[in-house]
Amino acid sequence: MFKSIALFALLNAALVSSIALTPGAPAVALNGLSSDAADAILILTTCIGVNLQNCLPWKATTLPAGCGSLVAYGQGGSVQSAATPSGIACTLYNGQSCNGLSQLINGTVNDLSTVGFSRLANSFNCRSN
Ligand SMILES: *[C@@H]1O[C@H](CO)[C@@H](O)[C@H](O)[C@H]1NC(C)=O
Repeated sequence: MFKSIALFALLNAALVSSIALTPGAPAVALNGLSSDAADAILILTTCIGVNLQNCLPWKATTLPAGCGSLVAYGQGGSVQSAATPSGIACTLYNGQSCNGLSQLINGTVNDLSTVGFSRLANSFNCRSN
């Protein structure tokens, strides 16, 4: 029992440090900044509805922030709108490891169908723009 808890903690620590990226509370609306890490900032909002409805606020402590998985948080193949705060640009990918078809998000895209990327994204990465 202790061994499996220790292993889980180790895996968890490795995962967190390699991606330096966490989603906010699941299935909340766009909600500004509140995170476990005091220095985490909002880097991307991904939403399963158009016009930024039903969103996950993604936060990170470093940029570039590694590859974030939309699949792991229930948004794989369902994102219809997305937004970045000023100073940050993100790329959505249809592959699960930030590969495949991509779409830059630099600002707000209220309906990804306007750029041919509705319900395609499965992963993303972000950087300073
Ligand atoms: C994002 O938009 C800003 C403001 O329009 C622009 O200055 C910047 O070059 C853009 N970044 C990318 C990566 O396209």
